[in-house]
Amino acid sequence: MAAPRDGAVVILGSGLIGRSWAMLFASGGLQVKLYDVEPQQVTSALESMRKEMELLEQSGALKGSLGAQEQLSLISGCPDLQTAVEGAMHIQECVPENLELKQKTFALLDGIVDDTVVLSSSTSCLLPSKLFAGLTHVKQCIVAHPVNPPYYVPLVELVPHPETDPATVDRTYALMKKIGQSPVRILKEIDGFALNRLQYAVISEAWRLVDEGAVSPGDVDLVMSDGLGMRYAFMGPLETMHLNADGKVSSLWGSDGAQRSMDVKTAWVHFSILVHGKNPIGNSRTQTQAGRATSPGAERPGVGQNRADHPAWCGAAALSGRGGQHCLERHGRGSAELGA
Ligand SMILES: NC(=O)c1ccc[n+]([C@@H]2O[C@H](COP(=O)([O-])OP(=O)(O)OC[C@H]3O[C@@H](n4cnc5c(N)ncnc54)[C@H](O)[C@@H]3O)[C@@H](O)[C@H]2O)c1
Repeated sequence: MAAPRDGAVVILGSGLIGRSWAMLFASGGLQVKLYDVEPQQVTSALESMRKEMELLEQSGALKGSLGAQEQLSLISGCPDLQTAVEGAMHIQECVPENLELKQKTFALLDGIVDDTVVLSSSTSCLLPSKLFAGLTHVKQCIVAHPVNPPYYVPLVELVPHPETDPATVDRTYALMKKIGQSPVRILKEIDGFALNRLQYAVISEAWRLVDEGAVSPGDVDLVMSDGLGMRYAFMGPLETMHLNADGKVSSLWGSDGAQRSMDVKTAWVHFSILVHGKNPIGNSRTQTQAGRATSPGAERPGVGQNRADHPAWCGAAALSGRGGQHCLERHGRGSAELGA
């Protein structure tokens, strides 16, 4: 991949997600060009963005350091794709979630772009190896999956194709940070990426609770909106476990009424058996006794050992993006090294 250069960001598809991306890139002071097969979509996008950005400015919620009019002046429609991508530094594809359509779109781009631009897809679930298969510019391709609505929800999942140049990931990561988003690196392509895998696990258990007649649908929703969701709005599951009472990471109640505590790995095994019906670590034994996991090879603090002193726990803390300083001091490993 050739050296990056300054240039416009091109939004391909001016629907719900394309508009939100356009506002975000403009908030970072970047020039934005909108293209859509339906020219009317560009017209309506420009109009709806103007209204929304003016309202945001009035309410003090506009992102970025520029005023609404300055940001709006950075965004323009472009009726011709070839002209739009000329000199661009980043192309964010936002066409409907249809593999064939996206493959055709990237094949078209492949034939008209140079070696410097990043080709990024907003796909919610299509795998990079399917989207970018056979492209000449595959090293420049990446998935940057936003969460709806991207302007208000900062997470972006970055998913590379196996042949994606690491520089493409780094550039996209830096660009997302520049516009105030929270990029996460998905280290290898995996169905559902990360957000939807976590979401599916929650939905699956919600269905189970309702299906088994244990909790009403309304109360399941309350458990999330007025309980777990509030916690997870500012602290992830790994950090929650890290900060849990000493010596206990997760507790389950058995059918005999006895509470069982277990370490992360054992909790994960139990969860996998519950949800997927199989043990993810093969033949390992998984029962827990008095708070001790018996999976062979499980790297965990010994009984009585403070888990904050244990490298495995610090890894979890560092991966959660916090506790990195402690890890660095104790083990010479920090969150950056662990990919946080
Ligand atoms: N809506 C969400 O909640 C959400 C969240 C995250 C990611 N995404 C992903 O973002 C992408 C876009 O979703 P959306 O909700 O904005 O869809 P949308 O239907 O609102 O917009 C799609 C736009 O693409 C245009 N388009 C169709 N074919 C085109 C082509 N060949 N070239 C250029 N433009 C074309 C359409 O005219 C339309 O304006 C999808 O891949 C979707 O999975 C959506």
